[in-house]
Amino acid sequence: GIPKFVKIVEVGPRDGLQNEKNTVPTAIKVELIRRLVSCGLPVVEATSFVSPKWVPQLADAKDVMEAVRDLEDARLPVLTPNMKGFQAAVAAGAKEVAVFASASESFSKSNINCSIEESLARYRAVTQAAKALSIPVRGYVSCAIGCPVEGSIPPSKVAYVARELHDMGCFEISLGDTIGVGTPGNVVPMLEAVMAVVPADKLAVHFHDTYGQSLPNILISLQMGISTVDSSVAGLGGCPYAKGATGNVATEDVVYMLNGLGVKTNVDLTKLMVTGEFISKHLSRASGSKTAVALCRA
Ligand code: HMG
Ligand code: MG
Repeated sequence: GIPKFVKIVEVGPRDGLQNEKNTVPTAIKVELIRRLVSCGLPVVEATSFVSPKWVPQLADAKDVMEAVRDLEDARLPVLTPNMKGFQAAVAAGAKEVAVFASASESFSKSNINCSIEESLARYRAVTQAAKALSIPVRGYVSCAIGCPVEGSIPPSKVAYVARELHDMGCFEISLGDTIGVGTPGNVVPMLEAVMAVVPADKLAVHFHDTYGQSLPNILISLQMGISTVDSSVAGLGGCPYAKGATGNVATEDVVYMLNGLGVKTNVDLTKLMVTGEFISKHLSRASGSKTAVALCRA
């Protein structure tokens, strides 16, 4: 069977906006986060405390976090690639953070400028500091299926990195198909390898919709016992260091499928559609959600 409740982790303000050519004004980011929270989304990844030279789109991370401080009950995690980012995030009021490793050596180098082992050492420092402050840390494994440089990534490599992140204290490990090349054919063996070393209730799936495979991949993941799914309103997103990677699976499409399956999410689909429209209009682009387009026409 599939879970009765799925926790959706909305990553649009971070994974989405980090990849938009035009930098979105801070006030619009803040409005987007507020609207997403009011849709009932339990977790909204808000921004990243990364180098502004690497990701100029999120250079206003501190201002964004300060402007949402009053949303006391919302979970608004932020990405932190090292201790410098962690300290800046905490100073700006972040109560939850995420670290991001890769299962591909080449991608690790191009995304965070260090080897996989070096990144794990950095993240041990971050998780240790976070533990002392009782700050929960999520761990990402990028290139869980494929890498833009290396091609297919062996499931054993994904399992190794996931286990390391789990062992250092990450409360949840999100498995990222960064470039969206996965199908149920390779997602199943990857999940089997990871679930042999990390319990399913500690795992999340994070699909990019480059090849339109996200929904079947999510469905098969739910059937295997996963109950946390990352998605991005209006299908915003991509990765600046993964050429050709398009947006995350659209949150509207995930909610529509889960509603059809009778799986609870706590998300108000109508409000979510209005929010998707708000940010798409602001970016002067069409929504990446088929559900939003269809329901808009209806
Ligand atoms: P580096 O250049 O190797 O860093 O970058 P460094 O330690 O040598 O420092 C160089 C400069 O950066 C210094 O400043 C540091 O102070 C500064 P300078 O002296 O030149 O003025 N610096 C920082 N500034 C702000 N915040 C920081 C920070 N750290 C150093 N935290 C670094 C290494 C990791 C910083 C860089 O490569 C970086 O910021 N990378 C982030 C890339 C990124 O955000 N990628 C997208 C997110 S991952 C993703 O999208 C995948 C995911 O969605 C899952 C999936 O889809 O699979 C999560
Ligand atoms: Mg991503």
